[in-house]
Amino acid sequence: MSGLKVAITGLGMAVPERRVTNFDLAQTVDTSDEWITERTGIKERRVAGEGETTASLAIEAGQAAIKDAGIDPADIGLCIVATCTSEQPIPPTSAFVQEGLGLRCGAFDVDAACSGFVYALVAGASMVASGAIGPVLVIGAETLTRVVDPLDRSTVILFGDGAGAVVLTPSEEAGLLAWDLGCDGSLTGLLGVPAGGSRLPSSPETLANGDNWLKMDGREVFRRAVRVIVDSARLTLDRAGLTADDIALFVPHQANVRIIDSAAGKLGLPPERTFVNIDRYGNTSAASVPIALAEAAEAGRLRPGDHVLLSGFGAGMSWASAIVRWDR
Ligand code: UT7
Repeated sequence: MSGLKVAITGLGMAVPERRVTNFDLAQTVDTSDEWITERTGIKERRVAGEGETTASLAIEAGQAAIKDAGIDPADIGLCIVATCTSEQPIPPTSAFVQEGLGLRCGAFDVDAACSGFVYALVAGASMVASGAIGPVLVIGAETLTRVVDPLDRSTVILFGDGAGAVVLTPSEEAGLLAWDLGCDGSLTGLLGVPAGGSRLPSSPETLANGDNWLKMDGREVFRRAVRVIVDSARLTLDRAGLTADDIALFVPHQANVRIIDSAAGKLGLPPERTFVNIDRYGNTSAASVPIALAEAAEAGRLRPGDHVLLSGFGAGMSWASAIVRWDR
């Protein structure tokens, strides 16, 4: 791969005000702070309150990224929103975001579940690098807590809400060096919301059966996640002509600290070069990588010339890796 001439010139994030701790959850389901901390690394997550939605969080994150890029909303050439918890089934979340941000450009959604942001980043970067379009706003935004059964202890402890955004601008140098986008559609049954779509429209029966809530075979997802993260990251490193030693920071999807530690260990990436914020936000699906990226930049952990490895995996099963050369 020769890479794409594009740079991340703006970053932003937004999370709901409301914090729900492990102790709070232990009041409603049979769990404990000790179990959740040991098995997942999560201590608290943010939960959208009244009036907070996928689009409202996306708009807040997008505003911050546009401001950080030092451009005007009217300069944005395209808006892509990665989400699997859309504002409503129709129209796309990106339409609400386009209006909320006062953009004058095309807008569409990408749904690749927790891999969605990295998919959208590659799609947006390809369009910027083609020269056909101006700066592209790529947002990952989710309100997973709206589809998680509050009484299911195996999922309610994991997920949180939030949004992260980047502005992609044409660059003189290749900034997106290599990527890998993958999916194994034979595994759709491992993680998903069965009802509410074409296959099983919502009905009083689906609601009564709990089919509108997220279902997950956590153990199987866990087992496969480590393998796909590692294989996809190795392929992407090869494509970029780099090794793990060249990676200044690994920014993985924040699903479980044990998945992150295991994958990072197999890749030879030590904790000091791996970004983890799952303790504060839980799994925010497509929002987790851009939130982590925004926090890493804020914490001064990204310097010009650094190679940053981004990685996502999730329902589908889908996975995605990308290596970015930092240029700010
Ligand atoms: O974004 C990508 C999507 N999702 C993921 O990446 C999730 C991947 N999977 C995971 O993170 C882990 O599988 C979980 C955190 C979901 C579960 O951890 P685990 O270590 O795989 O636990 P387990 O499912 O094997 O369950 C072990 C025990 C079970 O009890 P028994 O059958 O051994 O008596 C569960 O019923 O832990 C029980 N358990 C709990 N106990 C206390 C399950 N959830 C809880 C809970 N509190 N919240």
